[in-house]
Amino acid sequence: MNSQAFNTSQIASVPESKGFWSRDLVSTRDLNPAEVEAVLHLAGLMKSLPAEFRGALAGKQMAMFFEKPSLRTRLTFEAGMASLGGTTFFMDQTHERIDAREKLSDIAHNLERWVNAIVLRTFDQQTIEGMAEHASIPVINALSDLEHPCQGLTDYFTLQERFGDLKKICLAYVGDGNNVAHSLLLTCASLGSHIRVAAPSGYEPDAQIVADARSIGQQTGATIEVCCDPYEAVAGADAVYTDTWASMGREHEAGERCKIFQPYQVNEELVSSAASHAIFMHCLPAHRGQEITDAVIDSEQSVVFEQAENRLHVQKAILMLLLGGEMSRLQIRSAHA
Ligand code: CP
Ligand code: NVA
Repeated sequence: MNSQAFNTSQIASVPESKGFWSRDLVSTRDLNPAEVEAVLHLAGLMKSLPAEFRGALAGKQMAMFFEKPSLRTRLTFEAGMASLGGTTFFMDQTHERIDAREKLSDIAHNLERWVNAIVLRTFDQQTIEGMAEHASIPVINALSDLEHPCQGLTDYFTLQERFGDLKKICLAYVGDGNNVAHSLLLTCASLGSHIRVAAPSGYEPDAQIVADARSIGQQTGATIEVCCDPYEAVAGADAVYTDTWASMGREHEAGERCKIFQPYQVNEELVSSAASHAIFMHCLPAHRGQEITDAVIDSEQSVVFEQAENRLHVQKAILMLLLGGEMSRLQIRSAHA
């Protein structure tokens, strides 16, 4: 999708997606394939016509609790919400787990009386699931050890901008079978695309996530492949993606992981096996000289800063769909009637 191609008349054409509104985004699996497409479609509109959405979430308030550091996710949620007229409150939870001081359900029952949404970055996926279970307002996963849904949606938005038809492209993910790999697998599955993941033995993606991605893929036509050989994954691929070898919380394993993952480094030799038009992707932060070399990340085929920019547009779309609902969409439509 080329976001420059949109005009205001298309605002009314955001795909209908009954049941999406006022739900949670704890896992990419919370969205059905039509809803994943709706996020990407709306993100394209919001990227090309940001002024049309100014004030769309006026009066809405969002609390953000982060147990881990963040540059991109925090700032794109804060800037995105501000640009829509809403307000965010950031709670630095890096000193202790969110539920260390009081029960998660008690926190949830406080927050639901004060704000309209909760964004969580946690170690345990169960913390985000628990908050969503107890809070009556939308809960958004801003990264857990298991998933990073906003990242996966953004990366497929970036791929769609570049290539158009996602069903015709292959993304090679090389490295740790981690949260980002999981979200790419699930987003790929919903969009009917093709992904090949190469990870060392013992560091493959979670078996349940792979099974779920394959199950979704049976409806959408997606192809989900997992292997150990980075050259097999990259051969002819349209995009090559990698992420850190030691995710947040695994830093103590970095030395051991550096040795195990060395054959998975995304360098000029490896990417020479990809299609000549291939783009290079990384969610950032990058550990240059480890999972990716300067020559690759700084090359003209690198789209890492497009990915970072698109976090803003995709998260604004997620906020609109979870918080705005029909009311805001109708208001936007009537503003252009
Ligand atoms: N890619 C990403 O989520 O970056 P941050 O950790 O800086 O939020
Ligand atoms: N896999 C990485 C992603 C950072 C955005 C981590 O969890 O640290």
